[in-house]
Amino acid sequence: MKRNDFLRLSGAGVGSLLVPSGVISFISAGCNKNNGMGNMGGGVNVSEGEFLQALPLTATAGPITSLTVQATVAALKGNQSYNLFGYQANSILGPTLRVSKGDQVSINVTNSLNESTNIHWHGLHIPAAMDGHPGNLITKGSSFNYNFSVQQRAALNWYHPHPHMATARQVYKGLAGLFIVNDSEEAALNLPGGQYEIPLVIQDKRLADTGLSYNPTMMEVMSGYMGESILVNGKASPFHEIKSQTYRLRILNGSNARIYNLAFSNNRSFTIICNDGGLLINPVSVNSILIAPGERLDILFDFSASNTGDEIFLLSKLFSGAGNAQGKQEFKILKFKITQKVNSPFTIPPTLSSIIAYTAAQAARTRNFDISNPGMNMQNGMHRINNKVYDENRIDETVSANAVEIWQFDNSQGDEPHPMHIHGISFQVLERIGGRNTLAASERGWKDTVLVMPGETVKVLVPFENNTGRFVFHCHNLEHEDDGMMLQYQLS
Ligand code: C2O
Ligand code: CU
Ligand code: CU
Repeated sequence: MKRNDFLRLSGAGVGSLLVPSGVISFISAGCNKNNGMGNMGGGVNVSEGEFLQALPLTATAGPITSLTVQATVAALKGNQSYNLFGYQANSILGPTLRVSKGDQVSINVTNSLNESTNIHWHGLHIPAAMDGHPGNLITKGSSFNYNFSVQQRAALNWYHPHPHMATARQVYKGLAGLFIVNDSEEAALNLPGGQYEIPLVIQDKRLADTGLSYNPTMMEVMSGYMGESILVNGKASPFHEIKSQTYRLRILNGSNARIYNLAFSNNRSFTIICNDGGLLINPVSVNSILIAPGERLDILFDFSASNTGDEIFLLSKLFSGAGNAQGKQEFKILKFKITQKVNSPFTIPPTLSSIIAYTAAQAARTRNFDISNPGMNMQNGMHRINNKVYDENRIDETVSANAVEIWQFDNSQGDEPHPMHIHGISFQVLERIGGRNTLAASERGWKDTVLVMPGETVKVLVPFENNTGRFVFHCHNLEHEDDGMMLQYQLS
């Protein structure tokens, strides 16, 4: 919503507006609450840790496995244990699932929580009944077998819960994991693998509370629920020991709301090779790159100029244009310690993949989605798409199987960033108008989540497939999503 509307509602002018009094006290509570961040925009400053804990390398599992969703404990900071949710005992984050294109996946999920949950396989093109739609829940005490075949190219995907109005809390409390698809095209490139391929899940949490309680104020529903501590693979401010060579870092922004502007402390450029949907056509060299919640990036970083004893940090740099709550601070995320000087040069292949580019002329139609959220509508939630909040009993868009369409996310009048995500497909980003006015290096190839900054309209070309059924699309700021910023499309 527009900030001035919020201030108008929460400030002096309130008396003249016809708003139920309960709502007013909720607004005031949200506005007055001081989380020690001293930032009226709702942003939370990061307090960098000491980078003394080793980076955990998440356990892996194959296409046939089982997960038990449970309340458990894990040490997120030093030896301090936290009460959280896991997909396995004594761990935040589920195992990294590694499958090959063509595999039949069978994952038996048992819900041992005291509430309903489910799993959405973010990035996978699978039948609607397996997609973890908010309407398909696993009630407490029951199990569900997610069974599907993987028929898509290599990429870093991920999984997380999706019960409407509980997604943000369940993800925040620890439920998320990586889902890596491999294929022969990618294998033929001989990219750095094994210990030289490091999956990194970046998240922010509030670690003063060892119960990881989740209770956003109204202000935090607007900005998103951010934490002062940055965790990588479930550990606050970790370090990782490496050799002086090229590494493949496979990065997920698994945060509820925080956007990062990734860069390295020695100011060296790095190379983007993959994004949400896998390999780009060509590698792209950059000095920094934005990654919004839900987005993935594979980068190659060449440490060969470093010597034993050197320390290089993965950082988030300042950025602008993302509203009042984001990009105002530079902070360190992860420390790399070079412990061995080696001579093993890696040459990045100049061509990674071939991708057929769709053109606007192929689109049967354009659908416009207003995500600016102008004005305030207390009845209907603060975050809406086309002025609607999520309703499981309403189909918002009906799309024909195999249709190619342009979907346009219009945030031209908005003042909050919205990473927009569509389930069940991958899209190509066609154009960004307003704001940054250009596509980022990470927005070539295939995507499933695209960041729409305040003032921007972003058009994506979507070749729908033929997994008919009901899917959702939404903002991946999880507070916005749970606040209603999600609609449904029926593919038929
Ligand atoms: Cu990762 Cu519906 O989202
Ligand atoms: Cu998804
Ligand atoms: Cu949003």
